[in-house]
Amino acid sequence: MRFSDKVVLVIGGNSGIGRAAAAGFGAEGAHVFLTGRDRRTIDETVAAIPGARGFRADIAEIGSGTDVLAAIEAAHGKLDILFVNAGIGAFAPAAEVTPEQWDHVHNVNLRGCFFAIQQALPLLADGGAIVITGSIGAVAAVPGNVMYAAAKAGLRAVARTLAAELVGRKIRVNMVSPGPTETPIINRTEGVPADAVPGLRSIMTEAVPMKRMGAPEEIARPVLFLASDEASFITGIDLYVDGGCVEL
Ligand SMILES: NC(=O)c1ccc[n+]([C@@H]2O[C@H](COP(=O)([O-])OP(=O)(O)OC[C@H]3O[C@@H](n4cnc5c(N)ncnc54)[C@H](OP(=O)(O)O)[C@@H]3O)[C@@H](O)[C@H]2O)c1
Repeated sequence: MRFSDKVVLVIGGNSGIGRAAAAGFGAEGAHVFLTGRDRRTIDETVAAIPGARGFRADIAEIGSGTDVLAAIEAAHGKLDILFVNAGIGAFAPAAEVTPEQWDHVHNVNLRGCFFAIQQALPLLADGGAIVITGSIGAVAAVPGNVMYAAAKAGLRAVARTLAAELVGRKIRVNMVSPGPTETPIINRTEGVPADAVPGLRSIMTEAVPMKRMGAPEEIARPVLFLASDEASFITGIDLYVDGGCVEL
Protein backbone atom coordinates (compact mmCIF):
# COMPACT_ATOMS: atom_id res chain seq x y z
CA MET A 1 0.00 0.00 0.00
CA ARG A 2 2.66 2.51 -1.07
CA PHE A 3 0.06 5.06 -2.17
CA SER A 4 -2.33 5.10 0.78
CA ASP A 5 -4.21 8.39 0.68
CA LYS A 6 -2.04 9.70 -2.15
CA VAL A 7 -3.87 11.60 -4.88
CA VAL A 8 -2.81 10.41 -8.32
CA LEU A 9 -3.68 11.75 -11.77
CA VAL A 10 -2.98 9.56 -14.79
CA ILE A 11 -3.18 11.51 -18.04
CA GLY A 12 -3.94 8.90 -20.69
CA GLY A 13 -5.16 6.42 -18.09
CA ASN A 14 -7.92 4.62 -19.98
CA SER A 15 -5.86 2.23 -22.15
CA GLY A 16 -2.71 0.13 -22.26
CA ILE A 17 0.14 1.28 -19.99
CA GLY A 18 -1.83 4.11 -18.39
CA ARG A 19 -4.71 1.81 -17.53
CA ALA A 20 -2.35 -0.75 -15.96
CA ALA A 21 -0.69 2.02 -13.93
CA ALA A 22 -4.03 3.46 -12.81
CA ALA A 23 -5.09 -0.01 -11.64
CA GLY A 24 -1.76 -0.44 -9.84
CA PHE A 25 -2.03 2.90 -8.07
CA GLY A 26 -5.60 2.08 -7.06
CA ALA A 27 -4.65 -1.37 -5.76
CA GLU A 28 -2.10 0.28 -3.47
CA GLY A 29 -4.50 2.72 -1.88
CA ALA A 30 -4.37 5.82 -4.10
CA HIS A 31 -7.25 8.14 -4.91
CA VAL A 32 -7.09 7.73 -8.69
CA PHE A 33 -8.14 10.35 -11.20
CA LEU A 34 -7.61 9.65 -14.89
CA THR A 35 -8.15 11.26 -18.24
CA GLY A 36 -8.43 10.15 -21.84
CA ARG A 37 -10.51 10.90 -24.91
CA ASP A 38 -12.69 7.81 -25.21
CA ARG A 39 -15.66 7.95 -22.83
CA ARG A 40 -16.32 4.19 -23.11
CA THR A 41 -12.84 3.08 -22.02
CA ILE A 42 -12.69 5.83 -19.40
CA ASP A 43 -15.89 4.45 -17.85
CA GLU A 44 -14.68 0.82 -18.10
CA THR A 45 -11.38 1.64 -16.45
CA VAL A 46 -12.91 3.68 -13.66
CA ALA A 47 -15.45 0.94 -12.94
CA ALA A 48 -12.61 -1.50 -12.27
CA ILE A 49 -10.80 0.77 -9.78
CA PRO A 50 -12.68 1.43 -6.53
CA GLY A 51 -13.21 5.17 -6.00
CA ALA A 52 -11.53 6.19 -9.25
CA ARG A 53 -12.88 9.10 -11.28
CA GLY A 54 -12.47 9.63 -15.02
CA PHE A 55 -12.64 12.77 -17.16
CA ARG A 56 -12.57 13.43 -20.89
CA ALA A 57 -9.70 15.68 -21.88
CA ASP A 58 -7.85 16.02 -25.17
CA ILE A 59 -4.26 16.85 -24.28
CA ALA A 60 -3.77 18.55 -27.64
CA GLU A 61 -6.15 21.27 -26.45
CA ILE A 62 -4.25 23.40 -23.97
CA GLY A 63 -6.28 23.82 -20.81
CA SER A 64 -8.34 20.69 -21.37
CA GLY A 65 -7.38 19.44 -17.91
CA THR A 66 -9.29 22.18 -16.13
CA ASP A 67 -12.20 19.92 -15.12
CA VAL A 68 -10.13 17.12 -13.63
CA LEU A 69 -7.84 19.52 -11.79
CA ALA A 70 -10.83 21.37 -10.36
CA ALA A 71 -12.32 18.07 -9.20
CA ILE A 72 -9.03 17.06 -7.54
CA GLU A 73 -8.77 20.43 -5.82
CA ALA A 74 -12.34 20.26 -4.58
CA ALA A 75 -12.00 16.71 -3.24
CA HIS A 76 -8.45 16.73 -1.88
CA GLY A 77 -6.95 20.20 -2.17
CA LYS A 78 -3.73 18.86 -3.73
CA LEU A 79 -2.19 16.37 -6.12
CA ASP A 80 0.65 14.06 -5.01
CA ILE A 81 1.54 12.13 -8.16
CA LEU A 82 1.17 13.06 -11.82
CA PHE A 83 1.69 10.34 -14.44
CA VAL A 84 1.80 11.91 -17.91
CA ASN A 85 1.32 9.02 -20.28
CA ALA A 86 -0.86 10.13 -23.20
CA GLY A 87 0.70 9.55 -26.57
CA ILE A 88 0.06 8.54 -30.16
CA GLY A 89 2.16 6.68 -32.70
CA ALA A 90 2.68 7.84 -36.27
CA PHE A 91 4.89 6.56 -39.05
CA ALA A 92 5.82 8.35 -42.28
CA PRO A 93 9.03 8.51 -44.31
CA ALA A 94 10.83 11.80 -43.60
CA ALA A 95 10.43 12.90 -47.23
CA GLU A 96 6.63 12.66 -46.94
CA VAL A 97 5.96 14.24 -43.54
CA THR A 98 3.65 17.25 -43.81
CA PRO A 99 3.67 20.18 -41.40
CA GLU A 100 0.13 19.18 -40.40
CA GLN A 101 1.21 15.61 -39.51
CA TRP A 102 4.21 16.93 -37.58
CA ASP A 103 2.05 19.35 -35.59
CA HIS A 104 -0.57 16.68 -34.93
CA VAL A 105 1.97 14.32 -33.35
CA HIS A 106 3.84 17.03 -31.46
CA ASN A 107 0.63 18.66 -30.21
CA VAL A 108 -0.08 15.46 -28.29
CA ASN A 109 3.29 13.87 -27.52
CA LEU A 110 5.31 16.99 -26.68
CA ARG A 111 3.39 20.28 -26.55
CA GLY A 112 0.29 18.73 -25.00
CA CYS A 113 2.26 16.81 -22.38
CA PHE A 114 4.28 19.87 -21.43
CA PHE A 115 1.29 22.17 -20.98
CA ALA A 116 -0.64 19.49 -19.11
CA ILE A 117 2.21 19.38 -16.59
CA GLN A 118 2.42 23.17 -16.45
CA GLN A 119 -1.31 23.37 -15.75
CA ALA A 120 -1.08 20.80 -12.93
CA LEU A 121 1.97 22.29 -11.21
CA PRO A 122 0.13 24.73 -8.91
CA LEU A 123 -1.86 21.81 -7.48
CA LEU A 124 1.11 19.45 -7.15
CA ALA A 125 2.20 19.18 -3.54
CA ASP A 126 5.78 19.87 -2.54
CA GLY A 127 7.40 16.44 -2.12
CA GLY A 128 5.30 15.02 -4.94
CA ALA A 129 6.38 13.12 -8.04
CA ILE A 130 5.93 13.37 -11.78
CA VAL A 131 6.49 10.39 -14.06
CA ILE A 132 6.42 10.85 -17.83
CA THR A 133 6.16 8.15 -20.47
CA GLY A 134 8.91 8.51 -23.03
CA SER A 135 9.96 5.88 -25.54
CA ILE A 136 13.08 4.11 -26.64
CA GLY A 137 12.02 5.58 -30.00
CA ALA A 138 13.70 8.79 -28.79
CA VAL A 139 17.12 7.14 -28.99
CA ALA A 140 16.57 4.40 -31.60
CA ALA A 141 17.02 5.35 -35.26
CA VAL A 142 13.96 3.70 -36.78
CA PRO A 143 13.19 4.73 -40.38
CA GLY A 144 9.73 6.30 -40.64
CA ASN A 145 9.60 7.27 -36.97
CA VAL A 146 10.93 10.82 -37.21
CA MET A 147 7.85 12.69 -35.91
CA TYR A 148 7.38 10.43 -32.90
CA ALA A 149 11.12 10.16 -32.14
CA ALA A 150 11.59 13.92 -32.20
CA ALA A 151 8.58 14.51 -29.94
CA LYS A 152 9.67 11.90 -27.39
CA ALA A 153 13.27 13.20 -27.44
CA GLY A 154 11.86 16.66 -26.74
CA LEU A 155 9.80 15.22 -23.90
CA ARG A 156 13.00 13.76 -22.43
CA ALA A 157 14.45 17.28 -22.38
CA VAL A 158 11.27 18.54 -20.73
CA ALA A 159 11.61 15.90 -18.01
CA ARG A 160 15.23 16.76 -17.21
CA THR A 161 14.60 20.52 -17.21
CA LEU A 162 11.56 20.18 -14.96
CA ALA A 163 13.52 17.91 -12.63
CA ALA A 164 16.08 20.69 -12.22
CA GLU A 165 13.44 23.41 -11.82
CA LEU A 166 11.38 21.49 -9.27
CA VAL A 167 14.12 19.99 -7.13
CA GLY A 168 13.78 22.92 -4.71
CA ARG A 169 10.14 21.95 -4.12
CA LYS A 170 11.26 18.33 -3.53
CA ILE A 171 9.20 17.27 -6.55
CA ARG A 172 10.95 14.43 -8.37
CA VAL A 173 10.53 14.15 -12.15
CA ASN A 174 11.42 10.93 -13.93
CA MET A 175 10.74 9.26 -17.24
CA VAL A 176 9.99 5.64 -18.10
CA SER A 177 10.81 4.75 -21.69
CA PRO A 178 9.12 1.56 -22.85
CA GLY A 179 10.27 -0.70 -25.62
CA PRO A 180 7.70 -2.59 -27.74
CA THR A 181 4.72 -3.23 -25.49
CA GLU A 182 1.50 -5.06 -26.30
CA THR A 183 -1.16 -2.34 -26.09
CA PRO A 184 -3.85 -0.96 -28.42
CA ILE A 185 -1.38 1.62 -29.79
CA ILE A 186 -0.06 -0.84 -32.35
CA ASN A 187 -3.50 -1.08 -33.97
CA ARG A 188 -3.95 2.66 -34.20
CA THR A 189 -0.54 3.95 -35.17
CA GLU A 190 -1.08 6.43 -37.97
CA GLY A 191 0.59 5.43 -41.22
CA VAL A 192 0.39 1.70 -40.43
CA PRO A 193 -2.49 0.00 -42.29
CA ALA A 194 -4.31 -2.82 -40.48
CA ASP A 195 -2.82 -5.50 -42.73
CA ALA A 196 0.72 -4.32 -41.86
CA VAL A 197 0.22 -4.68 -38.08
CA PRO A 198 1.18 -8.39 -37.81
CA GLY A 199 4.39 -7.72 -39.77
CA LEU A 200 5.20 -4.71 -37.59
CA ARG A 201 4.57 -6.77 -34.46
CA SER A 202 7.02 -9.48 -35.58
CA ILE A 203 9.70 -6.91 -36.55
CA MET A 204 9.34 -5.26 -33.13
CA THR A 205 9.44 -8.60 -31.30
CA GLU A 206 12.55 -9.66 -33.20
CA ALA A 207 14.26 -6.38 -32.27
CA VAL A 208 13.88 -7.09 -28.54
CA PRO A 209 16.77 -9.13 -27.07
CA MET A 210 14.21 -10.96 -24.89
CA LYS A 211 12.34 -11.87 -28.11
CA ARG A 212 8.95 -10.79 -26.84
CA MET A 213 6.92 -7.65 -26.32
CA GLY A 214 6.35 -6.26 -22.86
CA ALA A 215 3.04 -6.39 -21.05
CA PRO A 216 1.48 -3.09 -19.89
CA GLU A 217 1.91 -4.18 -16.27
CA GLU A 218 5.67 -4.60 -16.84
CA ILE A 219 5.86 -0.90 -17.73
CA ALA A 220 3.42 0.14 -15.00
CA ARG A 221 5.47 -1.44 -12.20
CA PRO A 222 8.55 0.76 -12.81
CA VAL A 223 6.21 3.76 -13.12
CA LEU A 224 4.82 3.00 -9.67
CA PHE A 225 8.33 2.53 -8.30
CA LEU A 226 9.48 5.94 -9.56
CA ALA A 227 6.29 7.56 -8.25
CA SER A 228 6.75 6.01 -4.81
CA ASP A 229 8.92 6.93 -1.83
CA GLU A 230 11.09 3.92 -2.69
CA ALA A 231 12.59 6.17 -5.37
CA SER A 232 13.14 9.06 -2.94
CA PHE A 233 16.74 9.72 -4.14
CA ILE A 234 15.98 9.42 -7.87
CA THR A 235 15.18 12.38 -10.07
CA GLY A 236 15.80 13.27 -13.71
CA ILE A 237 16.37 9.71 -14.93
CA ASP A 238 15.07 7.98 -18.04
CA LEU A 239 14.47 4.32 -17.20
CA TYR A 240 14.45 2.04 -20.23
CA VAL A 241 11.92 -0.75 -19.75
CA ASP A 242 12.49 -2.55 -22.99
CA GLY A 243 13.63 -6.16 -22.68
CA GLY A 244 17.19 -5.02 -23.33
CA CYS A 245 16.63 -3.09 -26.60
CA VAL A 246 18.77 -0.07 -25.81
CA GLU A 247 21.50 -1.48 -23.60
CA LEU A 248 22.19 -4.94 -25.09
N1 LIG B 1 3.13 0.35 -26.62
C1 LIG B 1 4.37 0.59 -26.96
O1 LIG B 1 5.04 -0.22 -27.62
C2 LIG B 1 5.02 1.87 -26.51
C3 LIG B 1 6.41 1.98 -26.64
C4 LIG B 1 7.03 3.15 -26.26
C5 LIG B 1 6.27 4.18 -25.71
N2 LIG B 1 4.93 4.06 -25.60
C6 LIG B 1 4.19 5.18 -25.03
O2 LIG B 1 3.39 4.73 -23.98
C7 LIG B 1 2.30 5.64 -23.80
C8 LIG B 1 1.02 4.85 -23.63
O3 LIG B 1 0.75 4.17 -24.85
P1 LIG B 1 0.12 2.72 -24.91
O4 LIG B 1 1.11 1.87 -25.57
O5 LIG B 1 -0.46 2.31 -23.60
O6 LIG B 1 -1.01 3.00 -26.02
P2 LIG B 1 -2.59 3.17 -25.94
O7 LIG B 1 -3.21 1.95 -25.35
O8 LIG B 1 -2.98 3.61 -27.29
O9 LIG B 1 -2.79 4.36 -24.88
C9 LIG B 1 -2.56 5.70 -25.23
C10 LIG B 1 -3.19 6.57 -24.17
O10 LIG B 1 -2.99 7.95 -24.52
C11 LIG B 1 -4.26 8.59 -24.58
N3 LIG B 1 -4.25 9.65 -25.56
C12 LIG B 1 -3.81 9.61 -26.85
N4 LIG B 1 -4.00 10.80 -27.42
C13 LIG B 1 -4.57 11.61 -26.51
C14 LIG B 1 -5.01 12.95 -26.50
N5 LIG B 1 -4.94 13.73 -27.59
N6 LIG B 1 -5.54 13.45 -25.35
C15 LIG B 1 -5.64 12.68 -24.25
N7 LIG B 1 -5.26 11.40 -24.19
C16 LIG B 1 -4.73 10.87 -25.31
C17 LIG B 1 -5.23 7.50 -24.96
O11 LIG B 1 -6.55 7.87 -24.66
P3 LIG B 1 -7.73 7.43 -25.71
O12 LIG B 1 -7.68 5.92 -25.78
O13 LIG B 1 -8.97 7.93 -25.08
O14 LIG B 1 -7.40 8.07 -27.02
C18 LIG B 1 -4.69 6.36 -24.10
O15 LIG B 1 -5.12 6.49 -22.78
C19 LIG B 1 2.33 6.59 -24.99
O16 LIG B 1 2.91 7.81 -24.60
C20 LIG B 1 3.22 5.86 -25.98
O17 LIG B 1 3.88 6.74 -26.86
C21 LIG B 1 4.30 2.93 -25.98
